[in-house]
Amino acid sequence: MNTQKNFSLRPFNTFSIEAKAKYFARFDSVETLESLLEQRGRDPLPWLILGGGSNILFTRDFEGWVFHNSIRGIQVVHEDERHGYLKAGAGERWHELVLHAIHKNLGGIENLSLIPGLVGASPIQNIGAYGVEVKDVIHSLEAYSIAEKRVVTFTNNDCEFGYRDSIFKKRYKAEMVILNVTYRLDKTPRFRLSYGAIRDELEKMQVLQPTLKAVSDAIIRIRSSKLPDPAVLGNAGSFFKNPVLDENQFQRLQSHHPVDAGKIPFYKTEEGHYKIPAGWLIEQCGWKGYRKDDTGCYEKQALVLVNYGGASGKDIWELSEAIQKSVLQKFDITLEREVNII
Ligand code: FAD
Ligand code: EPU
Repeated sequence: MNTQKNFSLRPFNTFSIEAKAKYFARFDSVETLESLLEQRGRDPLPWLILGGGSNILFTRDFEGWVFHNSIRGIQVVHEDERHGYLKAGAGERWHELVLHAIHKNLGGIENLSLIPGLVGASPIQNIGAYGVEVKDVIHSLEAYSIAEKRVVTFTNNDCEFGYRDSIFKKRYKAEMVILNVTYRLDKTPRFRLSYGAIRDELEKMQVLQPTLKAVSDAIIRIRSSKLPDPAVLGNAGSFFKNPVLDENQFQRLQSHHPVDAGKIPFYKTEEGHYKIPAGWLIEQCGWKGYRKDDTGCYEKQALVLVNYGGASGKDIWELSEAIQKSVLQKFDITLEREVNII
């Protein structure tokens, strides 16, 4: 087994933060994972599964084992009249899977185009964008239980999905290693164009009849205009979750808000709650475009914190603390971090 010591994680996190792993090793099958765990033996050092590192902030060196997931393989494992069941190894790149599904004319994940990271992380926070969450299409997944030393199957229901949430962030945090995921996709695409920006973009592209490829291209164009490319500017997408308020909290926000209350943007959730864009709250506090040394708040999307090159994880963390504090002060809303902090 090729284990490396004092290994730089900078190329393995999209914030491009320098941090070292005491031990670093790749696994490409459940067997190699098992032998790594055996090698770790009774070593009490902590462990971490790393995918694409696009939802993680290292605020320090990791004094333990980092296991990098590279389990590959994508195939249609089952079909029925209406669906194709696409199974992917946890180490496949998410966007490659989206392209593969489009190529097979299977619909359901085209709105999730260009989300960075690997398949194995897709259920962890139930990735979502442009009116679709991956929970809508996850059929089942297999994970390795570290405690029980066996492979366990989870149905969609077992995963307890919520907004940017699942059982893998709660009860099974640092307990399950996701090995593969099976997605149930539509043979006849059902286009989800309710986000106005998608229709506008399709119009600009002069698309009269949407196709999976056209919707994916439209999403790619929208995302590229708003979100920084991690290859150019270090970031991990939205740093915080959008807060969800109940009716009373929303009314209180409206009545206490210093600017015209009617201008507060929100989306109504299925449960009748109000999801407020955290980017708007942060912008109202004056942070949008803020920069101090190499740490900043992106000029086109205030919810994205960025590393201009030399920021440390601690610098980014401190900026997030300051933003959280000012949103609390101004709106009495506590922003919850989406990014996993190490
Ligand atoms: P990592 O960052 O490597 O890991 C994330 C967490 O999952 C860690 O806690 C890790 O330990 C755990 N983990 C990873 N793989 C496994 C596994 N196989 N088994 C067990 N645990 C595992 N997210 C969205 O939801 N929607 C978006 O629109 C979106 N846009 C983004 C845009 C940009 C520019 C960037 C940089 C990020 C964006 N993200 C978005 C966040 C991120 O891409 C997703 O959360 C993605 O799923 C993370 O995948 P990853 O492989 O990089 O995970
Ligand atoms: N807004 C501002 N100022 C800003 C940014 C946003 O006022 O600087 C307001 C605007 O009113 C805008 C609204 O917020 O219309 C929504 O902005 P956007 O469409 O960019 O979406 P978001 O709510 O900020 C969420 C997800 C993204 C996902 C997009 C598209 C969360 C935490 N973030 O962002 O996911 O791509 O919707 O669906 O839910 C991620 O999780 O990393 C991520 C990028």
